[in-house]
Amino acid sequence: MIAPTHALRAALTAAIERALGEPEVDPLLVPSRQPGADLQANFAMKLAKQRGEAPRAVAERVATELGDADGLLAKTEVSGPGFLNLTFAPGALAEWATAALADERLGVAPAAMPQTVVVDYSAPNVAKEMHVGHLRSTVIGDALVRTLEFEGHTVVRANHLGDWGTQFGMLTQHMLDSGIEHLPDFAALGELYRAAKARFDADPAFTEAARSRVVALQAGDPGTLALWRDLVTVSLEHINAIYRRLDVTLTDEHVVGESFYNPLLAPTVDALLEAAVATESRGAVVVASTRFTNQDGTPAVLIIRKSDGGYGYGVTDLAAIDYRVRELDAHRMIYVTDARQAQHFAMVFDAAAKAGWTDGRQVEHVPFGAMLGDDGRPFKTRSGGTVALTDLLDSAIERAQVIVDEKNPDVPAGERAEIARAVGIGAVKYADLSTSRQRDLIFSFDRMLALDGNTAPYLLYAAVRAGSIATRAGETATTVSVVTEPVEQALLLKLAAFGDVLDEVAATLEPHRLCTYLYELAGQYTSFYEACPVLKADTPEQRRSRLAMCTLTAETLKTGLGLLGITVPARM
Ligand code: ARG
Repeated sequence: MIAPTHALRAALTAAIERALGEPEVDPLLVPSRQPGADLQANFAMKLAKQRGEAPRAVAERVATELGDADGLLAKTEVSGPGFLNLTFAPGALAEWATAALADERLGVAPAAMPQTVVVDYSAPNVAKEMHVGHLRSTVIGDALVRTLEFEGHTVVRANHLGDWGTQFGMLTQHMLDSGIEHLPDFAALGELYRAAKARFDADPAFTEAARSRVVALQAGDPGTLALWRDLVTVSLEHINAIYRRLDVTLTDEHVVGESFYNPLLAPTVDALLEAAVATESRGAVVVASTRFTNQDGTPAVLIIRKSDGGYGYGVTDLAAIDYRVRELDAHRMIYVTDARQAQHFAMVFDAAAKAGWTDGRQVEHVPFGAMLGDDGRPFKTRSGGTVALTDLLDSAIERAQVIVDEKNPDVPAGERAEIARAVGIGAVKYADLSTSRQRDLIFSFDRMLALDGNTAPYLLYAAVRAGSIATRAGETATTVSVVTEPVEQALLLKLAAFGDVLDEVAATLEPHRLCTYLYELAGQYTSFYEACPVLKADTPEQRRSRLAMCTLTAETLKTGLGLLGITVPARM
């Protein structure tokens, strides 16, 4: 099914070629600023300049060739310096909406060129609490994964778990010394960590033993590995519990931690040396950047192998790129981490490109800003500690419960708790996703739980309301057939833009664009609903047509929120 805007774009490109002999011109179609028109095409100004002709004349010639674009358009008009204003025929929009309603993809065409996309996200660290940075990565990454999958791409979720490195020597050595073979839960792991760290900092003999223990671990000593596995298992229980509460799609099968790449590190170093991408410097192996410098002006380096033989964080990422290209045949690799890792990834990507590993592939860092408290300062507990994610989610649900209880006193308590969970978790996720990700996120429960404005509660209510009208009407409407009011035309136009927005999110990896769209759609729906009686429409046909628009709106909101990882409850 082709969305009206796509059909129009193709018709315009064809008309430009027929009128001017110029092939494959982008008609530069944007929403119209003229109240009477739906869209405006801005190609004429640019083309006229290239051809040394008058823009209005160029636009006129194309308009003549375009005609009504096979019944798609009701009106075309050249205005201003050479804009071509375009208004869809109501029948064309109605026909598309009817088809979209019958389509489980809501009329969204799948990607023309499906790719294999690796999305590296969440990536918490074993033996530590997940923090707010991991929350952002998890929420943003999961929305991107869902959107890319909906677009028809093959998505490989990669949870690059921090499960390797010197701290595991310290932890397993302490387990050995204290005769601990198995940890009962994550809290016990926290205690173990504190005790081991205290010894590591105070006792040089322990520090030495811990260092040898890392070597044993890296060499695959079975006893050490068994202890390490226990640490990973207990941590994953904690991490998975948060994933389930957050309703993200990550499970154990997506864990490909740093440890996975351990056997690939030595060959990666050799390959980098061989390709002359890395060089040896005072016993270490490094890649010097041609783009980044240290504060003293010397080139920044990516440490590949330290002089003591230990490996840097960067080489694991290089081994991962090599693996993702060779084993997974990834066309596109996406890394969702906070902006402070931007230079790290830029240097990793540069090195991989120099080694020729990423030729013809896309590698992209998707950075996001810090999470700040209401006061604009780094998000911390009152005593200055890091906020545990479980506590944060508890608070969100508790606060949502108050709102839900007040709004729905008649709903049974069990269902109210279910709704509060959806609203609380949805609010946390939506607040994160609706902020342009490069910006810092100000975390405010009051703001994210507000019933008005660009928030999850507002959109969830809108989706539930739009869906419940059909239930109240007692009939399932499947056909949009009467479009007379400008607000109806505007609503249909907005609904038809859903696919364009998803394409944009897939291209820019910016989920806030989908949030803005859904918010605008809800607003457009409100204007329609206020101006156009649905249940009391003039004729049965008009009533059915408007009901169908309500249903398509509800489905689009629900699908869009679903792509953000937010579930719409049955009622609110
Ligand atoms: N574990 C790291 C951290 O907590 C994030 C890893 C991101 N992914 C990667 N491939 N380096 O900061």
